[in-house]
Amino acid sequence: MIHTKIYVVKNPDEMGVKAADLFEDVIQSKPACVIGLATGSTPLPLYRELIAREKAGRIDFTNVRSANLDEYKGLAPDHPQSYRKFMQDNLFDHIAIKPENTIVPDGLAEDVASMCCNYEAQIEKWGGVDLQLLGIGHDGHIGFNEPEDYFPGMTHEVKLTEMTIDANKRFFDSIDDVPKSAITMGIGTIMAAKKIVMVVTGADKKDILHKTFWGPVTPEVPASILQFHPDVTLICDEAAYPL
Ligand code: GLP
Repeated sequence: MIHTKIYVVKNPDEMGVKAADLFEDVIQSKPACVIGLATGSTPLPLYRELIAREKAGRIDFTNVRSANLDEYKGLAPDHPQSYRKFMQDNLFDHIAIKPENTIVPDGLAEDVASMCCNYEAQIEKWGGVDLQLLGIGHDGHIGFNEPEDYFPGMTHEVKLTEMTIDANKRFFDSIDDVPKSAITMGIGTIMAAKKIVMVVTGADKKDILHKTFWGPVTPEVPASILQFHPDVTLICDEAAYPL
């Protein structure tokens, strides 16, 4: 909390504009920067704004590298609900980023442990994440780091909670189709990012946002660890702002 910069904006579109300003700054000062990206409905206005800014000549993604937070276990990259497909449809297919410069954990990996190690190694080889985007789940999860009694360090496999499965069923035909596990960057991977921007919109996120930045730092609210990161920007809309 001591270090967190907070911007309260009117609505999701304004959140998109404000968050895009941060991405524009980082990409302009380091054209081959590494950005950490997130899925979910919250970042969509940001992705639309980034696409518009590249079209307008304000940002150039040609040399940018990106690493996504997470992927469902068992979904192929072209599965309609996979996070790889989400990123292609909502951002990558509309900007100049090179396909080989975008990484998303492999939901089909047979050797999950070595895929996770390689994922971490690739990020490290690129020099680490310059700006990490985060949304938040209703239980305080970031990426797919669910409430636990410890903070998981590196990229790993997780079992999703009932709450997360329930929240994500809206994207699937039925709750039985929602994968029960996922691969996610760990809390340590996320905390290693040089800068973090968290975007939160909607009244349904108000309570968890309060716990995250104004409550105790605890693995029961995984996002609360952000209070200990030296460079976090929170952009939330008025509906989500808890004070
Ligand atoms: C999923 C993702 C998270 C995301 C969360 C919230 O669980 N793994 O990265 O933050 O959903 O999504 P939404 O923005 O749709 O509320």
